Amino acid sequence: MSTQGIRSHTCGELRASDVGQTVRLSGWVASHRDLGSLLFVDLRDRYGITQVSFDESVPKELLAAAQALRTESVIHVVGVVRPRPDGQSNSERATGEVEVLAESLELLGPSKVTPFELDSDRIGDELRLQYRYLDLRRPRQAAALVMRHKVFRALRESLDQKGFLEIETPILTKATPEGARDYLVPSRVHPGSFYALPQSPQIFKQILMVAGMDKYFQIVRCFRDEDLRADRQPEFTQLDLEMSFVDEDHVIDVVSEIVSVATETVHPGKSPSLPMPRMTWADAMRRYGSDKPDTRFDIELADVSELLKDSGFGVFQGALSSGGRVRVLAAPGGGALSRKQISGYESVAKEQGAKGLAWAKVVEAEDGQGVVLSTGISKFISDTEAAGLIAASGAQAGDCLFFGADTFARSAAALSAVRLALGRDLELIDSTRFDYLWIVDFPMFDKDEDTGALTPAHHPFCMPADGSEQALVDDPGSVLARSYDLVLNGSELGSGSVRIHDADMQRQVFEAIGLAAAEIESRFGFVLDAFSYGAPPHAGFAIGLDRLIMIFAGEESIREVIAFPKTAQAACLMTGAPTTLPAEQVAEAGVAVIASKDDEKSPEAVH
Ligand code: AMO
Ligand code: AMP
Repeated sequence: MSTQGIRSHTCGELRASDVGQTVRLSGWVASHRDLGSLLFVDLRDRYGITQVSFDESVPKELLAAAQALRTESVIHVVGVVRPRPDGQSNSERATGEVEVLAESLELLGPSKVTPFELDSDRIGDELRLQYRYLDLRRPRQAAALVMRHKVFRALRESLDQKGFLEIETPILTKATPEGARDYLVPSRVHPGSFYALPQSPQIFKQILMVAGMDKYFQIVRCFRDEDLRADRQPEFTQLDLEMSFVDEDHVIDVVSEIVSVATETVHPGKSPSLPMPRMTWADAMRRYGSDKPDTRFDIELADVSELLKDSGFGVFQGALSSGGRVRVLAAPGGGALSRKQISGYESVAKEQGAKGLAWAKVVEAEDGQGVVLSTGISKFISDTEAAGLIAASGAQAGDCLFFGADTFARSAAALSAVRLALGRDLELIDSTRFDYLWIVDFPMFDKDEDTGALTPAHHPFCMPADGSEQALVDDPGSVLARSYDLVLNGSELGSGSVRIHDADMQRQVFEAIGLAAAEIESRFGFVLDAFSYGAPPHAGFAIGLDRLIMIFAGEESIREVIAFPKTAQAACLMTGAPTTLPAEQVAEAGVAVIASKDDEKSPEAVH
């Protein structure tokens, strides 16, 4: 039997207590310092780095072999553990007190010259994704995957202890209504028919409740063909769960507890105190302009429409007379912002559809009596209005006020974006905090501003608030849902709701979102049918695990915590997916291609 590469220790294991032992290490050559008659190799694996030295005492051939090594080659070294000479130990490394004096060296897997230096922090994302196996050798990337494993394990264990069953649901399935576009898979056996990859296991988990499974969970891949951002991937992972005979409080408690255990697992001492705070959707929109507020810093919005109802400033009058609102926030220390910085915030507001971002600075009055407004739009504001604005926004001398005059929704979008940018730029955010917040009492539907059409704010299976049966018929746009989101540090971590378990009410909600009877039948007939065979009251939740790990790992993008993520164009740079296929294979799938990736590249296709 070959023992090639078999090691006695990992590269993160040796300590002063191992001095004198002969050890066998295998790993990657992380670095290679050749000082002539003395050569050091830093040997790396995912557990750590151990220094291997080749000095005058080793045979010439061994030194020569070490000199010929290329970084990122895989080697096997046999040697003796010895203490590092005085003053040479490295306290930043767990193995830093010792080194291994090599006795033999075997090259197990030579490496070509790598396309980038692994320890550089300026490697282009494309290169990192193309050579993801090299990228993942970097300790920071590897640590994110280790953290991911620990969090998954902690969540699984806590759910197991609470009596949840992990049950898999199909990947080849029928469209699920989570609001994104579906990824489709053509069926060879049923030409012209398609499976859809699940946007979530929503319908299956509800049917598992009808099937009596009582408490279900699954760590599951979901697929959504939507515009990608730093916190969105076309395939991502949810911790999906569902429970029978419970209400929202039970689900919120379970999710709070498991998330708290997960936090403690990777950030000891940082788990949130329970119960986690709750805020209604209406309060969140009023106070922060966002349904996922970052509560790690204090800036809040104030509605000053009433105060400014007789304002002589055209922008405010315009918004108020067309039924809009004027809202304001105070940037602490914003008095020091330059015109250029302020115009940067104006761009932030405009990106959210605002027409501008009026501002004024708060300064000590010249007579030393209190504070007044200065510069910006201050000349359009009366003294009484200024006093009211300063009081409403809680501003102090040295702050800057920013105004949003628009529809409630647009002023919310603009000012919440400005608020976040200020929090970041003025360093108001304590990045060591984990602020969890439950948002409850969401509206049941979103209304399209132009057409008035209703779409489910979450998905169409959410139970309307108690007592809204009549409103569901008369004014569905006003109905609240028994749904709840969990927010962590300003990111939407997950969503859930109490579900409808009555076929008639479910049909009524489908109708409210404009589905015709035939469509309800063809898309959801099987769900309604299941509900007519004894459906228990049930409720559930899904956590976006990539986002949770991203925040735990202090990363800015979920790509950093997914082993093989896709680009913003939904491509895998390592494998080249998606690819075109030979015509026969496409035909066999019962599909005809009307435009392909190759067409995009061909000059004739460019008009
Ligand atoms: P929802 O659609 O809100 O709810 O998804 C739940 C959570 O999944 C994460 N998430 C994503 N993460 C990365 N990339 C994406 N493209 C992406 N889309 C969503 C978010 C989000 O909060 N079936 C319902 C849950 C339920 O009602 O039980 C659902 O999927 O963190
Ligand atoms: P204007 O009268 O268009 O020159 O705008 C005067 C100031 O008001 C500028 O600082 C604009 O950015 C700002 N402003 C314009 N429209 C709005 C709006 N809808 N909400 C807030 N500020 C605005």
